[in-house]
Amino acid sequence: MQHFIRINDVSTPDLRRTLEMAADLRRQREAGTPHVPVLEGKTLAMLLEKPSLRTRVSFEVAVRELGGSLISLRPDEVGLGQREPVADAARVLGGMVHGLIARVFEHEKLEQLAEHSGVPVINALSDRSHPCQALADAMTIIDEFGADVAGRTVVFIGDGNNVAHSLAAICARLGMRFILVSPEGFELPPAVFEDIHRHEPSAQLDLMPEPRRAVTEADVVYTDTWVSMGQEEEAAHRNAAFEGFQVNEALLQAAPAHAIVMHCMPAHRNSEITDAVIDGPRSRVIPQAHNRLHAQKGLLGVLYPGG
Ligand code: CP
Ligand code: NVA
Repeated sequence: MQHFIRINDVSTPDLRRTLEMAADLRRQREAGTPHVPVLEGKTLAMLLEKPSLRTRVSFEVAVRELGGSLISLRPDEVGLGQREPVADAARVLGGMVHGLIARVFEHEKLEQLAEHSGVPVINALSDRSHPCQALADAMTIIDEFGADVAGRTVVFIGDGNNVAHSLAAICARLGMRFILVSPEGFELPPAVFEDIHRHEPSAQLDLMPEPRRAVTEADVVYTDTWVSMGQEEEAAHRNAAFEGFQVNEALLQAAPAHAIVMHCMPAHRNSEITDAVIDGPRSRVIPQAHNRLHAQKGLLGVLYPGG
């Protein structure tokens, strides 16, 4: 694996290796066994153009615990694509650090960083996708149902956004069915499913209009904010459009008893998900967030084999 920008670009064996390494590293951490310092002598740079809690902390801790160093770049200071072209910044950074972790508005910036830096580039969320989240999501589903998750069904209720995009792609890779339940006009663009199908012809990807009907088939009920970072001006319109798409206890009564609830967080309590559900017995959101650390360690282990 050279970069980690889109799930579709990662081979299934690399994805499986990442998830297995993540679980191994989690076991080591829980046992208090130190990791092999695969990042010793390596410095990564992280640039986050949008707010973050989970991504920032999980990468800072992951790099440190694998023996490397991480520099946090201030987006206003760097002015990626404004103070200078992305390609120039990438060429400069590539001669100084061993990898770039970037959270950006325009997904294309990640592709430019990868093209011009000559070092691994990790997508820490873009307007289009959030593959690091998808790794932690897959890990959480495997924790619940075992390594063979093929045939399981993930029902995503809400906005066809960056998180839904990467989740659909990883579900396809692992043989899970992905059902997206969005109000009209908020589905993933058709090109997203087409692209996943090109990479994974047997992918089971469906759109359903009605949450109650969809959750009857769910092993996992997943939701995310209705208003992603950068869409704040659309909040009123979006909150109105998503009425009826809340994950609440009444909806979950229609789901199988074993179905779990996931959310990438930050959660907007009592908008897309109620307090009772996110704090309830089906919720896996906290272990899911913790898995960001372990999943990204697995990713770094695969991107930097042998240190
Ligand atoms: N889920 C996630 O990426 O959280 P942050 O935005 O806090 O990093
Ligand atoms: N869809 C959300 C995910 C946050 C982790 C956003 O982009 O704001």
